[in-house]
Amino acid sequence: MKVLVVGAGAREHALVRSLLADPGVTQVTGAPGNAGIAADVATEPLDVTDPAAVAELAGRLAVDLVVIGPEVPLVAGAADAVRAAGIACFGPSRAAARLEGSKAFAKEVMAAAGVPTARAAVPASPAEIEAALDAFGPPYVVKDDGLAAGKGVVVTADRAEALRHALSCERVVVEEFLDGPEVSLFAVTDGVTVLALCPAQDFKRVADGDAGPNTGGMGAYSPLPWAPADLVEEVLTGVLVPTVEEMARRGTPFTGLLYAGLALTSRGVRVIEFNARFGDPETQVVLARLRTPLGRLLHAAATGRLAEVGALDWDEGAAVTVVLAAPGYPAGPRLGGVVTGLDLAGAQPGALVLHAGTGLGPDGAVISTGGRVLSVVGTGPDVPAARVSAYAALAHLGLEGGHHRGDIAAGV
Ligand code: AMP
Ligand code: GLY
Repeated sequence: MKVLVVGAGAREHALVRSLLADPGVTQVTGAPGNAGIAADVATEPLDVTDPAAVAELAGRLAVDLVVIGPEVPLVAGAADAVRAAGIACFGPSRAAARLEGSKAFAKEVMAAAGVPTARAAVPASPAEIEAALDAFGPPYVVKDDGLAAGKGVVVTADRAEALRHALSCERVVVEEFLDGPEVSLFAVTDGVTVLALCPAQDFKRVADGDAGPNTGGMGAYSPLPWAPADLVEEVLTGVLVPTVEEMARRGTPFTGLLYAGLALTSRGVRVIEFNARFGDPETQVVLARLRTPLGRLLHAAATGRLAEVGALDWDEGAAVTVVLAAPGYPAGPRLGGVVTGLDLAGAQPGALVLHAGTGLGPDGAVISTGGRVLSVVGTGPDVPAARVSAYAALAHLGLEGGHHRGDIAAGV
């Protein structure tokens, strides 16, 4: 099977690595990829925001499967274009990707499917915004309705800040604050059959102790030894299956990866958000533990044959990933810094150095091209051991002014 992986982050690098480990996969191409992906497989230039360009490349390479990593091409309709060209695609249609592309739409689907989520309002005027803020009270949760690359959500006790953010959004969702730990649970689906992957936890805030602004994610680990034993089953039956059924009922079946961002509140599980693609950095730790051949799994989902795959096979151990970010990330990352120590870090036992925003400088050195630069994965028999591997590998890496959290998976 020949596979094209669309995207350029550490999530796509993890997908490429896992696809290469599948004996049924004969060729992987990354587009556009990054320096790490280019070191592993052939890459092609690609404007991922252009669905016709994605389909044209898939046709030119004569691949059997396209795997679309990021949300932007999905919301733009890249999966529709690939399927229209007669090529199997792992990723939802433009209509189904609205589950991520519009928070108001996701709320509507959850209400229809009976899926538990935060109570929310979609106020249409400044007066309605103020009324919604006061109705829910602090801490205020204010979300830009559309895609905002992880920066559209403000959670604050400061009413003035909440109001400022709300007024800056074209369309805004104001909602009830959810307490309790967060869990990311992914499901692979062909629109009918739903297979849950292992839960992971993401660290969204930039600094240790969950201080500072939200980011795309600064680290993650899996499994969650503290999670209730029936969590996956509960989310499968209460969230994932009803959502997939509701999307099918609407005539816009969801196929691909359904990502449920959950809060385990004192009143039960609530959905914080849906995403229509693999999460980053959670994918790095989930795939590090998946033993079922990935190409076979994604191809089955893309072709309506997921029921044939059966139960997924997992490594008993744990994985932890720590993100190395560029100076100034997330507010204003300064790019172009030289990354050193990659070979030494990658040679550490149990470590995997995945590239996110990297490219090659004129002299062949690896330089940063994005806010999140690397995602260092450590594996081991349990979370503490995996954590030691990840930080030991990270210690060999250099990036002037770069920063990472020191408390990923601490105390787990
Ligand atoms: P989202 O982009 O929807 O994932 O939101 C980013 C982050 O904001 C989430 O991971 C949560 O940490 C936080 N958040 C979003 N919605 C809520 C909520 N209703 N209550 C508490 N925290 C929230
Ligand atoms: N890790 C959060 C996300 O992928 O949206």
